[in-house]
Amino acid sequence: MSVLENIAGELKGLDIVDKLWFLARKYQNKVVFSTSFGIEDQVVTDLIFANQIPIKVFTLETGRLFPETYYVWNRTLESYQQPIHAYYPQTDLVQELVNTKGPNSFYESVDNRKECCHIRKIEPLKRALAGNEIWITGIRAEQSINREGMYDLEWDEGNQLIKFHPLFNWSLEEVRQYIATNNIVYNTLHDKGFPSIGCAPCTRAVQPGEDFRAGRWWWEDQSKKECGLHATVVKG
Ligand code: ADX
Ligand code: SF4
Repeated sequence: MSVLENIAGELKGLDIVDKLWFLARKYQNKVVFSTSFGIEDQVVTDLIFANQIPIKVFTLETGRLFPETYYVWNRTLESYQQPIHAYYPQTDLVQELVNTKGPNSFYESVDNRKECCHIRKIEPLKRALAGNEIWITGIRAEQSINREGMYDLEWDEGNQLIKFHPLFNWSLEEVRQYIATNNIVYNTLHDKGFPSIGCAPCTRAVQPGEDFRAGRWWWEDQSKKECGLHATVVKG
């Protein structure tokens, strides 16, 4: 039996809090959760912090986030009084990029956009994940066609660890309900047509009926629109 099948068996039938506890106990100090302060991430943060589960919470601070995101970040620190670790891009890499191509090079080509995402997200992500065994995210299957083909437990070949998406089968309604019931701070951009929130220059509101991720890198081809954070997962 593979490690993934093993864990899947252990998690089966547990409620969501117990699943997180199980992983935290089994992989002590090697379980991390990445938050972008989106509404799903606020649910996972609450599950971890309210239950004092020893899982390290981190964020990738790209330097280009919305003011609303910093507000949620700060309010979350105030509410729970527990640490959220920020990972920043390497100064020399950002400096070199901006000095050679200007601050908004990502609009000019997919390569430029990937370069910026690499410097501001992927490289810091590698540092955040280094030495860990479980990476928890707020991904839900509903968020994109690509994500529907994923599993809640996956082997991430690129990062050599297991990914777990505890809200994988939750609907947006369930997420909203949890946030309302527990009175959790969330990004007000979600009420202004932003279902998915990334960096400010690369995220806009979607029109009614438009795809969940239509507002992310909207100037690019549909097929190219993952930033690479979650591109390397291959199987469940
Ligand atoms: S992305 O790949 O398009 O950027 P998305 O915004 O849907 O990802 O978020 C999916 C999950 O990726 C989030 O639930 C969170 O776990 C992680 N994530 C995305 N952006 C960040 C970030 N800036 N910092 C930390 N985690 C992030
Ligand atoms: Fe750069 Fe935009 Fe990627 Fe953010 S989303 S890292 S600003 S290209």
